[in-house]
Amino acid sequence: MATYVVLLGPPGAGKGSQAKRIVKETAIPHVSTGDLLRAMKDQDTPLARRVQAIMAEGGLVDDDTTMAILRERLMEPDSCDRGAILDGVPRTLAQAETLDKMLAEEFSAAVGGVFLFSISEDEAVRRISGRRVNPDTGRVYHVEFDPPKVEGIDDETGTSLIQREDDKPAVVRERYQLYLEKTAPLIDFYRAAGKLHEIDANRPIDEITPDLVDAIKALQRTSG
Ligand code: AP5
Repeated sequence: MATYVVLLGPPGAGKGSQAKRIVKETAIPHVSTGDLLRAMKDQDTPLARRVQAIMAEGGLVDDDTTMAILRERLMEPDSCDRGAILDGVPRTLAQAETLDKMLAEEFSAAVGGVFLFSISEDEAVRRISGRRVNPDTGRVYHVEFDPPKVEGIDDETGTSLIQREDDKPAVVRERYQLYLEKTAPLIDFYRAAGKLHEIDANRPIDEITPDLVDAIKALQRTSG
């Protein structure tokens, strides 16, 4: 059966960094609603312009739009057979309920486990101010904690790294507050369902990865 896992946590907690590292070993695709929504920047439609404006201010895109985009992505063949590492979704209780329904009705599956990455607001700002990303592949670096071999250049593609538009400190603080208000209630939701696993996200990146891989592989074994 397919294994769907959720990476839950505030901006800068390391969800995207870990997801990109574990894809190969778990053989499950990384599905980030942030990446999917950012990819809309090339579309010149009213919806795409609205999404871009919301993201630039650090707000949340509405639940229906987000879940429709997620559903479309999960329908792609590489996701359906083995599951997905869901990064940044669900982010509201309504999204969590829609996800449960969607997985049950359309994929004959359920969320297998939820991994909670917690860091403080100041740590989020510190990490994100040093973040550099490849805008095409989404690969993430940090100027101090996870630097590329050549400053400003992606190790894999040799192209330039950028800073995300929503990575300004004031916007990060806004996103962090929104996380506390709208997303943190999911911690109790998934704890009550017996699905929550807490990850110590304050350790170095490379220390976290093997723990996460082991935990996901254990879920894959139990889900057959
Ligand atoms: P999204 O792209 O999902 O952003 P986010 O959840 O705010 O998370 P980030 O990508 O900022 O952080 P991360 O935890 O992935 O950290 P990373 O690994 O990069 O969403 C962006 C926007 O899209 C939202 O604001 C919203 O508008 C919209 N959106 C997305 N999903 C939505 C949804 N479901 N509903 C509604 N709207 C939605 O790490 C950060 C930095 O720290 C990196 O530089 C990294 O190298 C470094 N780092 C990582 N781990 C460590 C470590 N352990 N130690 C030291 N440094 C570390």
